[in-house]
Amino acid sequence: MEKVNVKPATGKLGVLCVGLGAVTSTFMTGVLMVRKGLSKPVGSMTQYDKIRVGRGKDKQYKHYGEIVPLAGLDDLVFGAWDVYLVNAFEAAVNCEVLKAKDILPVKDELEKIVAMEAAFDHDYASRLDGTNVKACKSRWEMVERLREDIRNFKETNGCERIVVIWAASTEIYVPVNEKVHGSLAALEQAMKEDDRKHVAPSMCYAYAALSEGAPFIMGAPNTTVDIPAMWELAEKVKLPIAGKDFKTGQTLVKSGFAPIIGTRCLGLSGWFSTNILGNRDGLVLDEPANFHTKEVSKLSTLESILVPENQPDLYTGYYHKVRINYYPPRNDNKEGWDNIDIFGWMGYPMQIKIDFLCRDSILAAPLVLDLVLLSDLAARAGRYGIQRFLSFFLKSPMHDYTEGEVPVNHLFQQYVMLKNAIREMGGYEADEEID
Ligand SMILES: NC(=O)c1ccc[n+]([C@@H]2O[C@H](COP(=O)([O-])OP(=O)(O)OC[C@H]3O[C@@H](n4cnc5c(N)ncnc54)[C@H](O)[C@@H]3O)[C@@H](O)[C@H]2O)c1
Repeated sequence: MEKVNVKPATGKLGVLCVGLGAVTSTFMTGVLMVRKGLSKPVGSMTQYDKIRVGRGKDKQYKHYGEIVPLAGLDDLVFGAWDVYLVNAFEAAVNCEVLKAKDILPVKDELEKIVAMEAAFDHDYASRLDGTNVKACKSRWEMVERLREDIRNFKETNGCERIVVIWAASTEIYVPVNEKVHGSLAALEQAMKEDDRKHVAPSMCYAYAALSEGAPFIMGAPNTTVDIPAMWELAEKVKLPIAGKDFKTGQTLVKSGFAPIIGTRCLGLSGWFSTNILGNRDGLVLDEPANFHTKEVSKLSTLESILVPENQPDLYTGYYHKVRINYYPPRNDNKEGWDNIDIFGWMGYPMQIKIDFLCRDSILAAPLVLDLVLLSDLAARAGRYGIQRFLSFFLKSPMHDYTEGEVPVNHLFQQYVMLKNAIREMGGYEADEEID
């Protein structure tokens, strides 16, 4: 075992969530209930998974927290921003994900988490009309006000460290613009000049977090930290960034199922994915400009798993389509259908149908917990910039596209990356043995 220098997880870890909607309130309620011994953190890798460390006769299977120093659930302190003036109790009740019996025991704690004013621009999510919004003259002022919020929260709650995670609505699609997003200096200039077209509010949150010493995670498909300017900032302040888009339902299935087709050298002629969803996320995504951001993220998954250039006979020209339809009666209980047209021996066609009746926020909450704990760990381990080992949790993993890097979307390759990062931070050798 090698000696590694990971700072211990002492003191309180402030978790600041952008957005106090379904995902955030389900996450917070769950952690508080688990803390009281009233529920279980099912689906969380940091709380359940065991990894092999060592080989041969030295091999042992350990929980992450036994390999690396992770913050404990008791050490988390929650805060949030939202466009609507709600507290976490109201948010949990309004979004109707959890039953009253799973919320009421932690009502008092949830009520104390009150949404701070959001850095928001109506043009980025036109379906939202909340008024709990900072009045700012420029994007730069947004950054400064958010920095103030982070500092105040840290001081008031006696936190040693902070992590900021975006679980707010998907913004409209912001294509990467080399002139504005290509360098930190250009981005700062654009913020000061109040370039609202190229600087999304989410970029202000990310900039503020990193400037205040907090890792930043993007849970929606927004461009935000997926630009060279933010990579430069993360390198400068030596902090981790990760994103984008929590990999929860359909894309989790896709990134786990596509390898079956690829590994068996079966052909693919088409993959049609459609969803019905009735929560506020679905409402925002009903707007074509917002959906486009999601579409780009969801479409990217297959292309790096079933690659036409590697297997032209099997994967040339397959048709891949993703749809999300807003359907209020289902609320947070999303239904995701996949129709997969494959072909086998001598080109004979076959079909696979998958119908995943999932619960969006129930799947997302453990990811929020894992991403928070692991990015805090990465920061203490001195890792900075894009955290590729967190790709396991993300639909559209960040990668350096300016260098032609191909993201890893294959669920099981991502799992190897995750395990090896934990091993390395724990002082063990990375390896690719199967177990
Ligand atoms: N649940 C999942 O399975 C899943 C998977 C992948 C990604 N996501 C993403 O996670 C995000 C949250 O999902 P949700 O179901 O909780 O949505 P939600 O609509 O219930 O909550 C999002 C909240 O963000 C607030 N908000 C919007 N812009 C804001 C801003 N600039 N600052 C502060 N608050 C802002 C909204 O008012 C809303 O209350 C969405 O972007 C969604 O696409 C969710």
